[in-house]
Amino acid sequence: MSDLLEVRGLTKTYRRSRETIAALRGVDLTLAPGETLALVGNSGSGKTTLGRAIARLIEPDGGAIRFEGRDLLAMRGRELRAMRARLQIVFQEPLEAFNPRATVFRVIADPLRVHRLAGRAEMPEAVSRLLVRVGLEPALAARAVHEISGGQRQRVAIARAIATRPSLIVLDEPLSALDVSVRGRILALLDDLQAETGVAYLLITHDLGVANAVAGRITVIDGGSIVEEGPTKVVLADPQSAAARRLVAAVPRLHRRTEPARIGG
Ligand SMILES: Nc1ncnc2c1ncn2[C@@H]1O[C@H](COP(=O)(O)OP(=O)(O)OP(=O)(O)O)[C@@H](O)[C@H]1O
Ligand SMILES: [Mg+2]
Repeated sequence: MSDLLEVRGLTKTYRRSRETIAALRGVDLTLAPGETLALVGNSGSGKTTLGRAIARLIEPDGGAIRFEGRDLLAMRGRELRAMRARLQIVFQEPLEAFNPRATVFRVIADPLRVHRLAGRAEMPEAVSRLLVRVGLEPALAARAVHEISGGQRQRVAIARAIATRPSLIVLDEPLSALDVSVRGRILALLDDLQAETGVAYLLITHDLGVANAVAGRITVIDGGSIVEEGPTKVVLADPQSAAARRLVAAVPRLHRRTEPARIGG
């Protein structure tokens, strides 16, 4: 198969002192190179768990993940580190992922240094180029990440993610913490970067308008299981599962019309 990512039968159970929570109950999904797949579902349905398992930030209990034709879950050491350059993740609130006191320069330079994509002398130029690429002023490099706006911070997170030229970026609710006026511009940026680099996105969102605007295909997760999957327009126009019907019904615009929902900004 020419799939970029192939997830089969993925399971994950969280165990707390008294309860166990089956967050993933045998999840299957595939992603082709350069594709955008939206992963949608209610709060608590398992989206973040799945995204983090794919990014190897948490270990699933069972199942298999192939990435670029290789067994992702078997990777260790050097192979795992090299893979991290190819598979990046962007979080809802980048402040949780970065040291808030770190400078923008540091946040973007880190992956370049770790993966040896730029030496000390070339670093300022490499960081500047990435900032410009995501629509930011190179002068922003000197600021601490807690001193810039949420929209700027998400652009910095995207610059950091694309720095290593990944083939896949998992985006976990990348717009949710942002003002509506900024969301459309970040979506446009993601679109441009995909057109330029051919990167694939696994876009986790509970916003069907966002899914409709950028994802060719959509997969619906409910209670840790994939309950529906198909071309975005088809699923949104005629949802089959109860979970997909609930999500569509919650968005009046999508419910009534099939044209793309307008995203602000
Ligand atoms: N570290 C954890 N320990 C215990 N339970 C967890 C942990 N992380 C998530 N869960 C539980 O696993 C289930 C799936 O959570 P997950 O965060 O993957 O959902 P989600 O779809 O991303 O939700 P949201 O839309 O609110 O972000 C939920 O029941 C959640 O409470
Ligand atoms: Mg989540």
